[in-house]
Amino acid sequence: DTVHVLNGPNLNLLGTREPEVYGRTTLADLEAACRASCERHGLDLVFRQTNHEGELVTLLQQARGSLGVVLNAAAYTHTSVALGDAIKAVGLHVVEVHLSNVFAREPFRHHSYISPVARGVICGLGIDGYRLAIDALAASRNS
Ligand code: DQA
Repeated sequence: DTVHVLNGPNLNLLGTREPEVYGRTTLADLEAACRASCERHGLDLVFRQTNHEGELVTLLQQARGSLGVVLNAAAYTHTSVALGDAIKAVGLHVVEVHLSNVFAREPFRHHSYISPVARGVICGLGIDGYRLAIDALAASRNS
C-alpha cells in the first residue's frame, strides 16, 4: 500500500519560514520523518510539495488507488473550492494536517474547504501531526 503526503504553497520554505510558527524542521526533515513512519508500517510513500493549486488537484487525482493522502494544503485550505471538489471526486481517505493550530490564529484560517470532505483533521502538533496521520491511515487498512 502507498500513502501520498502532499504539501502546498510555501512549505518548501519550512525551517526558515516564520520559525516561531512553523518550527525549524525543513521539508527534507519532514520527508525523512514521514518515510520512517511509513517504513514502520510497511507502507510506500509518495512525498510531494507544490506552490500551485492546480498541481495539487492533479496530485490528488494521481493518488487514486492509494491507501490515502495526508494533505497540508497550506493557504489553499482556506480558499480552494477546487481542492475540496477534487477530494470528493477521488473518494480517497484524506487526513488534513496543519503544523500550526489554525484555530489559535487569524479568523480567515478558521475556515477550511478540506475539513468537510476529510476523514479527519490534525492541527497544532507540528510535524508529529504527519506521523499521527500516517498511523491513522495505516490503521484504516484493517477496517
Ligand atoms: C498551515 C496553516 C495555513 O493557514 C497556512 O497558510 C500555511 C501552513 C500549517 O501547516 O500550519 O501555509 O497549513
